Amino acid sequence: MSFDFKPSAGDKVELYRDLLSAIDAVTTGERDAIANMANAAALLFDWLPDVNWAGFYRLVDGELVLGPFQGKAACIRIELGKGVCGTAAATRETQLVMDVHAFPGHIACDAASESEIVVPLVAHGRLIGVLDIDAPIPARFDEQDRTGCEAIARLLETRLG
Ligand code: SME
Repeated sequence: MSFDFKPSAGDKVELYRDLLSAIDAVTTGERDAIANMANAAALLFDWLPDVNWAGFYRLVDGELVLGPFQGKAACIRIELGKGVCGTAAATRETQLVMDVHAFPGHIACDAASESEIVVPLVAHGRLIGVLDIDAPIPARFDEQDRTGCEAIARLLETRLG
């Protein structure tokens, strides 16, 4: 089996719609959470423009642990409440960060990162991890990215069990 699809050359809303259906296609019927996170990270990194890191941290024994990702090697463990990922996990609210250097406690894994979006993943009322995407330009992510990434997170929450 191979997955050979590409996003249409439309606007950001269309891009996220295509991304959601591609992630749906590569994860449907597969029960392995790591495999599904790996394919989702690959599509996010490949299809989103101006992104230098895309991937997952999983909640393991009360802390965030690095999961499947694309980009430079990253910090492995993040305490809840620390950095952008730990804040998203602790508050269970998406963090849309225009300037990572202005975010208190931001953890710089890749010095190129300038802006970031982190979406918490919650299944059956329990936090299971976060989706994290970094960009090498300031203010890369806006409300359309938030809507698109949150829709992807809602889908993945049903595919990471
Ligand atoms: N910048 C994140 C850490 C993870 S890396 O960006 C991959 C943070 O502050 O939580």
